[in-house]
Amino acid sequence: MNKQLHKIPFLGNGIGFRPELKSFIFLNKDKIDFVEIIADHYIDVPDAKLRELELLMENFTVIPHAINLSLGTVGGPDMGYVRKLGALIQKIKPPYWSEHIAYTQAHGYDIGHLAPIVYSEEFLRILQKNIAMVQAEIPCPLILENITYHIELPGKDMEDADFLNSICELTACGLLLDITNLFINSRNLKFDPYEFIDRLNPDHIVQLHYVGFEGDDSQLIDTHARATQQEIFDLMAHVFKRRVPKGTLLERDERYELLEEISADLMRSKDLLKTYNA
Ligand SMILES: [Fe+2]
Repeated sequence: MNKQLHKIPFLGNGIGFRPELKSFIFLNKDKIDFVEIIADHYIDVPDAKLRELELLMENFTVIPHAINLSLGTVGGPDMGYVRKLGALIQKIKPPYWSEHIAYTQAHGYDIGHLAPIVYSEEFLRILQKNIAMVQAEIPCPLILENITYHIELPGKDMEDADFLNSICELTACGLLLDITNLFINSRNLKFDPYEFIDRLNPDHIVQLHYVGFEGDDSQLIDTHARATQQEIFDLMAHVFKRRVPKGTLLERDERYELLEEISADLMRSKDLLKTYNA
């Protein structure tokens, strides 16, 4: 692990902040050590929204999670957006921030979702160049997240785990390993997620994301709406045996009313952290 990432403090058990979960989060501070915010929800917003952020900062470590940087866009990131993101990160002063290995913009159009890039030497260079531009503007450590994809893209010439190792080595970024995304890809594209984890350099792993998946044998999807299944916790434990991450984070985006299952997920993650961090 490089020096900058090594200095990141242990954060513990986290949850993605969503306004629908605000009361739950504040009432369960004993289970929640940090929150992740969607950075884009606090850029170009009214003061009232910024006051929400300040309240979070007074009570938790806040990690900004960006969704629209489009690091995989061939023409480079929108530097106007990068500067706004940098100002937000400067305000929060987090130990690190995160984005996806993906693109959301192509030829000047916003495509409205996280699209996968081709895991190839060519895209490794594109990503490296784009990340260097972002790092020049935002000095805070960046960690990169793996996303789901449903078909193998033509032009792929690297194994996924090798690509993740290489981009972390080339850019000094850490890895935000989304365990649910990894599990979904492994089922849909028929590979062994345990072998994938074994192939990753554990030094790169800074944080985990987890949540339940949906679907059937023909296809799994990441709706972020279900209780976390045993298969996900088993995979998390496998990561923990190799490297205890700085933080685990429940990434729930729907069915917020099911507070008991959200609470149970947080408790299981807390137990994992306790077991392996003892
Ligand atoms: Fe995620």
